[in-house]
Amino acid sequence: MDTSADSADRAGRAAGFFLVFEGGDGAGKSSQIPELAAWFTALGRDVLTTREPGGTQIGENIRPLILEHGQGEVDPRTEALLYAAARAAHVEQRILPHLRTGGVVVCDRFVDSSVAYQSAGRELSAEDVLSVNAFATQGLVPDLTVLLDISPEEGRARRTASRGGEDRIESESDDFHARPRTAFLALAEAAPERYLVIDATLSRPEIQRLIRERVCSMLGLPPEAGVQL
Ligand code: TYD
Repeated sequence: MDTSADSADRAGRAAGFFLVFEGGDGAGKSSQIPELAAWFTALGRDVLTTREPGGTQIGENIRPLILEHGQGEVDPRTEALLYAAARAAHVEQRILPHLRTGGVVVCDRFVDSSVAYQSAGRELSAEDVLSVNAFATQGLVPDLTVLLDISPEEGRARRTASRGGEDRIESESDDFHARPRTAFLALAEAAPERYLVIDATLSRPEIQRLIRERVCSMLGLPPEAGVQL
């Protein structure tokens, strides 16, 4: 397989492919990710599917501290640092080792979520959030970020319909959630070669088709590969 478009050697990694899903809560990432991972596997790629905050033992232990209610006050700086700490472990222990073996990493959220929620949402400076995250990630940047764009109202309606309870971030107001949405779109607009923005209200198969189409073009795969599986 021609993997010439696989990741450049940033953060000391070899030819893996690092794909991140971002988007508002309720955008449908969790149904798209396993389908895409299964497709990569069918193409013969070694796939690591993972999520943030989490993906390592320490990250999964940090997750409830930031997301569950009842942890006492979690001020914005503390919140940003906890996400970044979980991310540092994730990059060092799971993501980079997998990329270095030439594998594909499909990750549910990464640095852009911190820019969107901790900077735009909690109103920390983008500069601070980016510098903490540059340290945490060792400069690792996704090859492709799929942004599933959803309005705060639609996201909330979907979350309520699917499972009821909302975590600390989800239970913020629609006004709060409008800010991360704008921030995600601005990030995508600033680097279109590294983003694919998809309207999350499109059908599930159509979203999957659009993602595969883009991956095929980035990895030099024939378009027919996109319909495999
Ligand atoms: P996620 O696991 O995608 O939510 P869910 O399990 O409900 O689909 O993300 C958990 C929440 O954490 C989500 O509301 C966004 C938030 N978050 C941040 O605020 N900053 C971050 O850096 C990350 C990774 C997530």
